[in-house]
Amino acid sequence: MLQRRFYVTTPIYYVNDIPHIGHAYTTIAVDVVARYKKLKGYDVLFLTGSDEHGQKVEESARKMQIKPIELADRVVDRFKNLWEKLDISNSDFIRTTERRHKDAVICLWNTVKSKGDIYLGTYEDWYCKPCETFWTEKQLIEESCPDCRRPVERLKEPSYFFRMSRYQERLLRHINENPDFIQPESKKNEIINFIREGLRDLSVSRTSFSWGIPVPDDPKHVMYVWFDALTNYLAAVGYPDEMPYWPANLHIIGKDILRFHAIYWPTFLMSAGLPLPQKIFAHGWWTVEGQKMSKSIGNVIDPDEMVNRFGVDQFRYFLMRGVPFGQDGDFSIKVFIERTNSDLANGLGNLLSRTLSMIEKYFEGKIPSLPNGPYDPGCPIGTQREMQLKSLIEENTGADFDHFMDKLQFSNALLKVWDVIDDANRCIEDTAPWVLWKEGKTEKLSVTLYTLAETLRIIAYFLYPFMPRSMEEILRQLGIEKRLADTQMDEAIRWGRLEEGTKISKGSPLFPKVDRIP
Ligand code: MSP
Repeated sequence: MLQRRFYVTTPIYYVNDIPHIGHAYTTIAVDVVARYKKLKGYDVLFLTGSDEHGQKVEESARKMQIKPIELADRVVDRFKNLWEKLDISNSDFIRTTERRHKDAVICLWNTVKSKGDIYLGTYEDWYCKPCETFWTEKQLIEESCPDCRRPVERLKEPSYFFRMSRYQERLLRHINENPDFIQPESKKNEIINFIREGLRDLSVSRTSFSWGIPVPDDPKHVMYVWFDALTNYLAAVGYPDEMPYWPANLHIIGKDILRFHAIYWPTFLMSAGLPLPQKIFAHGWWTVEGQKMSKSIGNVIDPDEMVNRFGVDQFRYFLMRGVPFGQDGDFSIKVFIERTNSDLANGLGNLLSRTLSMIEKYFEGKIPSLPNGPYDPGCPIGTQREMQLKSLIEENTGADFDHFMDKLQFSNALLKVWDVIDDANRCIEDTAPWVLWKEGKTEKLSVTLYTLAETLRIIAYFLYPFMPRSMEEILRQLGIEKRLADTQMDEAIRWGRLEEGTKISKGSPLFPKVDRIP
């Protein structure tokens, strides 16, 4: 059977900044989606990469007295190392300085031009160099860039233009006819309003610097970085050759770059006669302890350091659980530690270690058997409490969980799983296995511990996209050899798959409690 394909992307990151929590956030979110879809049986293509051209990179390199490509090489190494450290499962990493990318961009340019959508004109407007964005007089705020509030400069130069205005109505129609195309809803409305104000033709070349892809037949011009950068999504899947993975199912980006993805990108694609991506999702921004994150304030959160101090899954979990995806959030170490302790150390970690300790103690480290009919309401040994937990897991990990994952409501999906974890911990208190042991009620005790162990096994599948390393470890401690990464979940999560007699192997605590800021 042909596997269903799923193509998901991160933005490609600029190489004139070092990786911080913002980059990690987008990339971890895409990793969660990619791993989830893979568990669901999709053939997933997960693309990330680096955006290396442009005036900013040219200038940073000049200041450092190195070539732009040397600067890019260094920063790309840092990104790649970080992705490895964060257990990012990308299938490809595209650099805009690669041949395959440049060829694709040139081809897209020529195609758009052959449609009559590129012409030579003169450009004059306000330009924000740090954001590489032109602004109209009206858009400026207090004569500064409306995005970063830094000073803008007046630029006038010959420039090629893309006839974006031609696509205004078609784009509006597409957005209206495809309610999921731009998400979340509030961001969609911003885009619709922006388009309604009128789309101007877009300047797509520059003569003021040279670090970029030269315009075919007019090499004084290099292409505007966004024309260059956006094309990465096509280049990586083989454009202009056959592209089985196109259109992309999902572009996840930050809200600051939505306009480029939801207006420029679709109009380029329309002009080239290519299908549009299915969904563009813009997530919110993190502030740090209530302040905007910035190098000058010195409050930039370094993901590398977070992993070293607290662990990779603790960091991944917090980012996905802390704030509803799509909204802005505040990063505070105090809240991070509180959540790590309550949800991971006391919640999930405790459930695992208590369950495995009791299996060690009462059943010689082997998964106990399930006596006949333990989940029948009339079971003579009385297992209503265990039945209740089993029903909860079936309810909470069914359609609702999938719905939340498909809508990218990660924190809601996690809440569903935590309902189960909390109930499982309560089930231990309610059934008091230590009393059952003392009273010699082994049959009943085996139902309780089987139910807890099976709950943990199933939970591991649902949390795997978020915390892959720890969930592999849970399965290993439960004595299961198969790796989650190679499994499809729909079959595996059926209740009762955990085999009686499996030898468990308890390890050290998965999520040690953090007592104070280390
Ligand atoms: N190169 C462009 C993207 C081109 S895609 C064709 C770019 N690069 S970037 O290096 O600036 O990366 C931006 C990504 O990091 C965006 O998704 C942005 O939203 C995210 N973040 C940067 N700072 C952030 C926060 N403080 N919080 C959350 N995400 C933020 O834009």
